[in-house]
Order: sequence, then C-alpha cells, then structure tokens
Amino acid sequence: MTMQDKQAWSGRFNEPVAELVKRYTASVEFDQRLALFDIQGSLAHAQMLAACNIITTQDMNDIRRGLAQIENEIISGDFGWLLELEDVHLNIEKRLTALVGDAGKRLHTGRSRNDQVATDVRLYLRHAIDELRELIKALQTALVNLAAHHTHTIMPGFTHLQVAQPVSFAHHLMAYFEMLKRDAERLADARRRVNRLPLGAAALAGTSYPIKREYVADLLGFDGVCENSLDAVSDRDFAIEFTAAAALIMTHLSRLSEELILWMSPCFGFIDIADRFCTGSSIMPQKKNPDVPELVRGKTGRVNGNLVALLTLMKGQPLAYNKDNQEDKEPLFDTVDTLTQTLRIYAEMMGGITVKPEAMRSAALQGYATATDLADYLVKKGLPFRDAHEAVALAVRFAEQRGCDLSELKLDELKQFSTHIADDVYTVLTLEGSLAARNHIGGTAPQQVEAAIARARKYLAE
Ligand code: ARG
Repeated sequence: MTMQDKQAWSGRFNEPVAELVKRYTASVEFDQRLALFDIQGSLAHAQMLAACNIITTQDMNDIRRGLAQIENEIISGDFGWLLELEDVHLNIEKRLTALVGDAGKRLHTGRSRNDQVATDVRLYLRHAIDELRELIKALQTALVNLAAHHTHTIMPGFTHLQVAQPVSFAHHLMAYFEMLKRDAERLADARRRVNRLPLGAAALAGTSYPIKREYVADLLGFDGVCENSLDAVSDRDFAIEFTAAAALIMTHLSRLSEELILWMSPCFGFIDIADRFCTGSSIMPQKKNPDVPELVRGKTGRVNGNLVALLTLMKGQPLAYNKDNQEDKEPLFDTVDTLTQTLRIYAEMMGGITVKPEAMRSAALQGYATATDLADYLVKKGLPFRDAHEAVALAVRFAEQRGCDLSELKLDELKQFSTHIADDVYTVLTLEGSLAARNHIGGTAPQQVEAAIARARKYLAE
C-alpha cells in the first residue's frame, strides 16, 4: 500500500480493500449532499475544541480557513470527490489536511464519524423541514385563494362517491386546508426531536476530552443535546418520524389528486386544469391528461416505500451505530425531494384550475342531495326522525319514477308522503337552502365557510 491510497482507518489492515467492496461501501456519491452541513458541524466542533483548550486557537483558525476554501470549492463545483475516500466526511477531512496540514488532522479529536453523520443528517433535515413548512403554507394559500371565490359554488358532496348532500366547492377545498394544517403541525413537532445534538457521543460511549456539548449545541442552533451517547449515534427515529409525516402529506395530496382527476374527466366536467400542467396523447387527438395529479398519486407510493425502508432498516439493529444506517440517506433525500417538488408544483397547479359551477350544480341536482333536508324539515314539524326518513325515502322513489327532482314535485304530490308538508317546504328543497341551513362551525353554510377562510388567512399571516 502506498501512502496515497491509505484509508483514514487502514493502519491495522494487511491488504487494501477490494475494489468491489470499496464501491459497495462508499456513500460519497449520495452523501456529498450533506457537505455544507458537515462543514457547519465541523466549524462548531473546532470552535468548541479551541474554547476548551483541546486544540490551539491557531489550529482553529487554520481549520476555519481551510473549511471556508473547501466550502467555496464545493459550491463552485470544483471540489474533487473521491470514491476511494468513502464518504463526505473523509473527503472533506482529507482535503482540509492537504490545505492546512496538521490542524486538519486535529479536527477529528473527540469526534467520530458516527456522531458526525448523525449531526449532519439532523442539520440537513432541520433545514428541509423549515423549507417544507413554507411550501405547505404556499399550497394552503393557493387553496384559500381559490376557495374564497367559491363559497356560493354548489357541488354534490359525496359519501361512497354517491351524491350525498350539497356542499360548496370552497368548503370542499377547505377540508384540504385543514389536512395540511395538521401536516405542518406534525412537521413542527418532529422538528423538536430532530433538533438535538448528537456530537460529543463520539463513536458510542462519549469521549475522554473535556468537551462542552451544550456549547456546540448553541452554536448550531440545537435546542439541546442527545442525552445518551449510544442512542445519539444509533437511532434514526427522527428520520422515520419525518418520513411518516411526509407519507401523510403525500397521502393527503394523493386524495386531492384523485378528486382532481375525477373532476376533470368529461364524465364529471367540474374543473379544468391549465394546459401547462397536462399532456396529450400520441394516439388519441382529443385527450388532455392530468399527468401531474396522477404522478402525485403515484409518487405517494414511493414515499410510503421510503418509510417502510427506513423502518425495516432500523428494526434489527443492536446498539449502537451500525453501517446499516448509511442506508438512511437515499430514502430520506428522496422523500425530501419528492415532497418538495410535489408541494411546489401543487401550489402552482391550484392557481391554474378553472371551475365549472354549472356542471357542479347540475350534478348536485341529480342525486336527491336535499333528501336529508326534507327529513330534517319533517322532524322540525314534529315527526320522529326514523318516520321522516321513511317518508322521504318514499318521496325519493316517487320522484325517481317521475324522473324529476324533489323540488320539482307539486305540493299535493309531496303531501301524500306526510301531511306535515306545507308550501314552505320548497325553501329547504333548494340547494341554497340546504347549504344555508348548515350554519354552525364546520358546516357548509357560506357564512361559516367565509369565517373559516378568514381564520385560515389569519393563520397563514402568522
Ligand atoms: N458514511 C457513514 C454513514 O453514513 C458515516 C459513518 C461511518 N462510520 C463508521 N464507523 N464506518 O453512516
């Protein structure tokens, strides 16, 4: 072995690592994405080492200078990543030593790649979560802006995908606002557990140097330190938890996607999605396909897969660090990338939706959506609910045979189902009457949905 191909850890080895093994074990191709967080962590570590007189101020200044240059090289794309150097950490350390000599070799004092990588991943994920929370807000804003125009746009509300009761399109959209609000809360909550410092745990047991972990935590903006060194280097529950939250966000967007796809089908014709978000067919000239929502639905499977990958990665690992954990990065990065792109494109797409209120309205008129309103009307006139239900069922059957809506039946015809029915019945049989009647918090009455939109705008401005 020449000095050149010597690994940082090769002292005790009698032969070089096989080429195949080198390629198999190296992570630099994907973990170089952690580079700037690795540098950030190293700077804080060096500053602490100097503050605790473990290295000299001169060493610290050399390390700073070297890392600053490395950062520039990485940003400008000039940094020469070497597979032989295994991972992002050893690549940077080697370059640092080439630039500043012995000070570079002292950087790793009191530290291991085990606590180093755990720190890098946490810094990366914290940053990603902060960006994702902004993107969720942007999508929520797009939903609220669209909803604001449609508190009086009536569509059928469905259960079992059968017409159930009329709702406003705004109310329907605001359901997704609520889901995303909980999603953002979940990310914020996960962030609290991400934001703990592993550094100082060293390989697994802590270190014999007189280090100050809280000082490093402060420098890096962590809320505190991981309080058990074995746990600090080994668990990736924070990444799993984040990915679970991400899978839920994708699940919510997948549900909305499914609806957009249905609504855009000519069989519904409720909306149109701007051409720039759709594609055509190479064989059927009439086609305009909602590719973006379809892909969102598809990519949900991939994020769910990432969650299962991470859970499976963790489940059999004894304490403390195991190389298995190197496999946490690709599913995690892929989750962040998929979610980032999805949220970004979704916010734009919601701004490119054309609503077709007439189609929504005529669908709402088709399925006896106000039957419940008629039953409630009879109850208010003194009939027990079950009897009212029965009477209305018969009325619906009658209307069905006539091929008309309940509101199109004459008063005499309606009266045969209950003598309680009077001419004031027609106000409850209209779609508008049905909406207006649901006038409590969480209901679909325009007044309530307007209030929900106002609350949402306040939340988004916070
Ligand atoms: N590339 C490794 C990872 O991602 C860094 C830690 C390696 N530690 C070790 N003892 N081999 O987990």
